[in-house]
Amino acid sequence: MEREEEKRAAALAAVKHVKDGMVLGVGSGSTVAVFIEALASLMRNEGVEVVCVPTSYQSAILLANYGIPLTSLLEHPTLDLAVDGADEIDPNLNLVKGMGGALTQEKIVASSSKEMVVIADSSKLVDVLGVKTPVPVEVIPMAWRTVAEKLMKLGSKVELRCGSGKVGPVVTDNGNFILDAKFPRIDQPKMLEEKINSIPGVVENGLFVEMAKIAYIGQGKILERK
Ligand code: A5P
Repeated sequence: MEREEEKRAAALAAVKHVKDGMVLGVGSGSTVAVFIEALASLMRNEGVEVVCVPTSYQSAILLANYGIPLTSLLEHPTLDLAVDGADEIDPNLNLVKGMGGALTQEKIVASSSKEMVVIADSSKLVDVLGVKTPVPVEVIPMAWRTVAEKLMKLGSKVELRCGSGKVGPVVTDNGNFILDAKFPRIDQPKMLEEKINSIPGVVENGLFVEMAKIAYIGQGKILERK
């Protein structure tokens, strides 16, 4: 199955969790973009009404383009369901997220939700976190160098993320920088998540541990955390 088909199948499976009147958290990334399209169809064709808290400018703009009502955690501090993509998924449903730069709002939204559903294609499955992608770490700009040194002491190779469309560092939706910390493998993700977040200057990191309830991976493959 092609990757795009897998994303679509995962997005359609997640849409089945959406019920009339729900307040949804909507993640970011290319798989979520497919989910938003499917959500718009559900609302148009079935008369289902929802309001959504976006996790990035990308998802806010996409939702608005489809005429899907936006809300915020100020109005709805507890969400019924959060749907989001991932960059790595381990067998325990722990995740690395943030390769699209939107990890902090994503983690806030997921942690404010009664349930988190992950949607991804099969290229995101790993036996152990860290083997494919770095851990994105959002940092306060004036602290990036000192945080980078501390991340190296934790055993990672660190790069300041620079993007295309602008010279210099990527600036997040929250006005911060991102450090990509590549560990050889992450055997204790909870411990690492906490260690990274205890470094002064770190806003949040892309390890999502014991947050997701269920993951749809392409067609037919479902991972569930008991
Ligand atoms: C955004 O920063 C990420 O956390 C995304 O959830 C992740 O990068 C997955 O994106 P794709 O669906 O585009 O692979």
